[in-house]
Amino acid sequence: MSTAAPPESPITPLRAALVEVLQPIEQARGLPNAVYTSETLFTLERDRLIGPTWAGLLFTDSIPLQPYAQPVDFMGLPLLVTRDRTGVLRVFHNVCSHRGMKLVDAAADSHGVLTCRYHAWSYALDGTLKATPHIGGVDQHQCPAFDSSQHGLRPIRSATCLGVLFINLSGDAPDFEEHVAPLRQHIAPLTGIKQGFPPVVADPDSGFTLTVHANWKLAVENYLEAYHLPTIHPALNRYSPLKDHYHFVNAEHFAGQGSRAYQPSITTAAALPLFKRWPAERRHMAEYPTLYPNVLLGFQADHVFVMLLTPNSSTTTTETVRIYYCGEGAKAPIYQDLRTAIQKGWRLVFTEDVMVVEGMQAGRASIGYRGGTFSPMMDIPTHHFHQWVARQLLQ
Ligand code: FES
Ligand SMILES: [Fe+2]
Repeated sequence: MSTAAPPESPITPLRAALVEVLQPIEQARGLPNAVYTSETLFTLERDRLIGPTWAGLLFTDSIPLQPYAQPVDFMGLPLLVTRDRTGVLRVFHNVCSHRGMKLVDAAADSHGVLTCRYHAWSYALDGTLKATPHIGGVDQHQCPAFDSSQHGLRPIRSATCLGVLFINLSGDAPDFEEHVAPLRQHIAPLTGIKQGFPPVVADPDSGFTLTVHANWKLAVENYLEAYHLPTIHPALNRYSPLKDHYHFVNAEHFAGQGSRAYQPSITTAAALPLFKRWPAERRHMAEYPTLYPNVLLGFQADHVFVMLLTPNSSTTTTETVRIYYCGEGAKAPIYQDLRTAIQKGWRLVFTEDVMVVEGMQAGRASIGYRGGTFSPMMDIPTHHFHQWVARQLLQ
């Protein structure tokens, strides 16, 4: 009798390389090429790296305020975001509990009911199974052996913060507030607010989207360091120079860099209102944390921006940006030029980054590259992120 060997985990051939990532920064190599190029590892990452924590799914303002249902593909998973009559957002697996038809195919206003196109089972926007036509035979819409309350849509944990709808696919991450508390504590001295994140209002005209032909992790890595400022962002480096930057890393799941001298040279008659409690002596400080895995943040005294990375495949990522201000007053027409300048400034910076992120992706096709090395001074957050990824994949 022959016994077949169990299939090899896609991590097994990478184990030695991932262990090297965990070395001190002076000796460490970076992540191996395969984690930037392999679709098998992309799916594995979804399940081991992104699924067990809180990931940004979309901006809440992309879901209209009326009762609504929007299908969302997230790393190959069909998901569904609904908004009910009271404005509550929920996330579900977008699959009918009967024979597994994808339930909602296109975003649409909903009149409170989602009906499957196959056998017309229907669900409320809170996921409750409401109707099961002919389930007990022709014209018998109920069945004694069938308990509808057990067959609603399968929910996914979600939470909203800074205009982002976060999801925890595995369902067993710590509460979202527990997850985000260390970042709130870190940023509190800068913003002057105990809860860390200042109250913000969205500028509806601020949003923009960039498509990057690169793995999502390269966009994170590039965002984590200021080392490339003089070469890639000459304009930004003039008003927020490299020499005034510093790094920070958290024991768990965020890292980033900050500037002690963020001073855009925008000259107009008016200055944008500042966040009320932002300490005067920190007026020109700014911080740029990445909340792992995919939410990139920027805190300045007069605006906050959020970039959401949506991994579409191992080699394509969508970057979606929103900019927020400190109150309705900051949206007045008198500040339009300033808001436009801020949006243009960040759009330029993020567009400049696309070239290097795609260039790093192209380099990952090289058989002569084995993770590279790190500057022990300039790449500290990048190494921190690599270690976070390696640890999760090795588990
Ligand atoms: S698969 Fe949806 S009603 Fe049958
Ligand atoms: Fe950059």
